[in-house]
Amino acid sequence: QNNILTDTFGREHTYLRISLTELCNLRCTYCMPAEGIQLSPRSHIMNFNEVYTIAKTFVDRGVTKIRLTGGEPLVRRDVAIILKKLASLPVELSMTTNAVIVDRYIDLLKECNIMNLNVSLDSLDAVKFKEITRRNDFDKVVKNMHLLIQEGFNVKLNAVLIKGFNDNEIIDFINLSKDLPISVRFIEFMPFDGNKWDKGKMVSYAEVMEYVNAAFDKSQVIRLQDAPNDTSKNYKIKGYKGSFAIISSVTNPFCDSCNRIRLTANGRLKNCLFSATESDLLTPLREGKDITPMIQKAVQSKFKVRGGMDTLEKLETPDLHGKNRSMITIGG
Ligand code: GTP
Ligand code: 5AD
Ligand code: SF4
Repeated sequence: QNNILTDTFGREHTYLRISLTELCNLRCTYCMPAEGIQLSPRSHIMNFNEVYTIAKTFVDRGVTKIRLTGGEPLVRRDVAIILKKLASLPVELSMTTNAVIVDRYIDLLKECNIMNLNVSLDSLDAVKFKEITRRNDFDKVVKNMHLLIQEGFNVKLNAVLIKGFNDNEIIDFINLSKDLPISVRFIEFMPFDGNKWDKGKMVSYAEVMEYVNAAFDKSQVIRLQDAPNDTSKNYKIKGYKGSFAIISSVTNPFCDSCNRIRLTANGRLKNCLFSATESDLLTPLREGKDITPMIQKAVQSKFKVRGGMDTLEKLETPDLHGKNRSMITIGG
């Protein structure tokens, strides 16, 4: 294999996640520390030409899917320019958003053929929403989720489960998929810098299925076929329009089929969600250098599982394995 995006385990990286900004209009507790984060100086953030140039390099080398993340990608002021430029590349574009202001971008998203939107919503209770996001935007998000469905977008709803906080809403979330053609995805809470993770706060894949099996008869719960490289294990309740799924990065990592690589807003390549090391692409790009050797090196140094944290014990002592970022500057 001489493709520079194939790693030493034979995994081909055809999916690039680009974080467009470190800024967000919410303040989710599982994503960032209460005191905020040290933001990169503005001049260290990729401008729209740099985003495009790096993205194009990846597309030329075999990337077929790009997901835009943040922070919140839509708060970036020049987001329209970026989306239009990326839409000119032969690549599938998608976005993960908190949906707070997505109603202003419906036409733009359609124009750029960004029809797959993953929306973060962790509670169906306005008070809890406020508690987790530290903001009052529950009504907007719910309204916008319905708007997106109405406008024909494929919506996946992401809910990070926190034990004792929103695990009692699992069945309510699943019942949203009764009449709505969405995929509700429960995400195991993962450790990142400053998010006070401990495994006791996590609701596991197995525990979600216990709730499901207590609420529905076995014959009603259908295991769906997962798409290749899917992060989620997909299910459906018989007769429901939509489906539900579990993303079990902690108890059931899917690293064997990993096809993802990440570019941070300040132009660093992360070969894994949990990687402690990063490769600076932006500085060499600004110096007019060829960035492909840096990309190749980053891909070649990718660990088999979770940035080297292949056991739960190692996940519990992440800093022994090098410091990762806060989720807000990774983008999921
Ligand atoms: P699709 O492109 O629709 O498959 O979405 P996705 O699940 O890849 O992305 P999304 O941004 O909706 O993320 C949902 C959850 O999956 C978040 O908690 C992410 O952190 C997690 N996730 C996404 N990609 C990876 C990955 O490569 N590894 C791991 N461990 N988790 C991931
Ligand atoms: N664990 C699991 N998922 C997380 N996300 C953000 N922080 C975490 C975490 N600590 C999710 C967001 C968003 C997606 C990109 O990542 O809810 O939907
Ligand atoms: Fe890929 Fe790392 Fe996620 Fe595993 S933890 S699936 S190697 S990005």
